[in-house]
Amino acid sequence: MAETSATQILAIVFCVTAAAAAARAKVYSFNNQGSTSVSSLNASDGICKSVVEPQGYACQEHTVTTKDGYILSLQRMPSGLSGKAADKPPVLLQHGLMMDGVTWLMNLPDESLAFILADNGYDVWIANSRGTRFSRGHASLHPNDSAYWDWTWDELAAYDLPATFQYVHDQTGQNLHYVGHSQGTLIAFAAFSQEKLLNMLRSAVLLSPIAYLNQMPSPLARGAADLFLAEDLYWLGLHEFVPRGQAANKLLEDICGKPGINCTDLMTSFTGPNCCLNSSRTNEFLDHEPQSTATKNMIHLAQMIRTGTIAMYDYGNENDNKDHYGQPTPPVYNMTSIPNDLPLFLGYGGKDYLSDVKDVQVLLDNLKNHDDDKLVVQYTDEYAHADFVFAVNANQIVYDRLIAFFKIN
Ligand SMILES: *[C@@H]1O[C@H](CO)[C@@H](O)[C@H](O)[C@H]1NC(C)=O
Ligand SMILES: *[C@@H]1O[C@H](CO)[C@@H](O)[C@H](O)[C@H]1NC(C)=O
Ligand SMILES: *[C@@H]1O[C@H](CO)[C@@H](O)[C@H](O)[C@H]1NC(C)=O
Ligand SMILES: *[C@@H]1O[C@H](CO)[C@@H](O)[C@H](O)[C@H]1NC(C)=O
Ligand SMILES: *[C@@H]1O[C@H](CO)[C@@H](O)[C@H](O)[C@H]1NC(C)=O
Repeated sequence: MAETSATQILAIVFCVTAAAAAARAKVYSFNNQGSTSVSSLNASDGICKSVVEPQGYACQEHTVTTKDGYILSLQRMPSGLSGKAADKPPVLLQHGLMMDGVTWLMNLPDESLAFILADNGYDVWIANSRGTRFSRGHASLHPNDSAYWDWTWDELAAYDLPATFQYVHDQTGQNLHYVGHSQGTLIAFAAFSQEKLLNMLRSAVLLSPIAYLNQMPSPLARGAADLFLAEDLYWLGLHEFVPRGQAANKLLEDICGKPGINCTDLMTSFTGPNCCLNSSRTNEFLDHEPQSTATKNMIHLAQMIRTGTIAMYDYGNENDNKDHYGQPTPPVYNMTSIPNDLPLFLGYGGKDYLSDVKDVQVLLDNLKNHDDDKLVVQYTDEYAHADFVFAVNANQIVYDRLIAFFKIN
């Protein structure tokens, strides 16, 4: 069962992104019951109706179709609680792997970034990546089709992000600020390094930045990546990676039976010891949440763990790579190509096991020629991966500085 454990672990590795981890951990540590605001989220309603409007904020549902046919939902918060229309530029919020737009709305309004930005006069736009529950439409494919799941974060960078940027730009007539978390930073780095989207961008905030994944401290994650890759053809056959599918639950039982693995604390094992979550609220949310991704995307992320590069998906042999890319190896996203005058804010944490300090240092080395006055780096010693979006004190630790950064850019 080595390969099944590997999937299980990888699922967990990239959750919030450890959404699935917490969700599955709950099976072992809590009753599978929950009944407050977040868990009453009704999947047949959109995010506006189920999460935003109950807090008294205005909200609009939008959709945008990518060039490869995926129909994505976007939510817009055009005003704060006072009802006064936004008088500041649009901000696009991009969630991480296995999450969706609710990421930015989960805590109380004065703790959650989307509400805070709306109350500060920003025109807030919330993205939902392909395959997540509110973005499962396609012009010609159904999620039951294997072709629907034939993508990785390469396509999120090449199609989802440009479509959402263009849409927000067209709707507002303005360039936008960007905030990404985790995989939401990876796809932005990829696009910016190819000098894409820059003509519609004011500044970018990248929380728990993911570019290099080679030095993650978790031996479980590293071993999992190897096992996962060894069985890549098998896993590719599964197409949709369902974090809470039947197979995944069975795998969890297997792995949790192993000595030395504490399944009540998987969230910590994979994202790091988050300092400042309201764990009852977070668990309840995560129990409800983990979103599907493409199995191919999981394999691509595993390739990054193994190789330490930030490159396009490796088809595994020179011929197939040549067919896709016209060269025997996958093209590399060159982080040194990110323009030196792009205003960037990078927030990373001393306890983060996914955006670990050593990998972030490699990224910062790549950015060493960045204009001094265009790069803000905020290191928070006590923060782990999920704290950047879920900590109850992120408003003071991160969001205040993020807003100050927006004001000067
Ligand atoms: C979810 O919303 C739909 C449509 O608004 C409604 O028909 C359904 O009863 C709701 N389900 C729950 C559990 O509230
Ligand atoms: C998709 O697959 C599910 C589960 O097998 C099935 O219940 C559903 O009817 C299928 N939908 C379509 C449109 O084929
Ligand atoms: C597992 O972790 C939980 C939470 O940190 C802790 O309460 C529990 O004692 C641990 N169990 C074992 C067997 O170490
Ligand atoms: C944690 O969240 C729960 C559920 O939203 C809430 O009832 C509780 O008051 C919160 N705890 C703290 C310390 O904020
Ligand atoms: C990345 O770009 C820089 C300058 O733009 C160049 O010096 C370097 O060789 C490139 N690295 C790779 C791996 O292509």
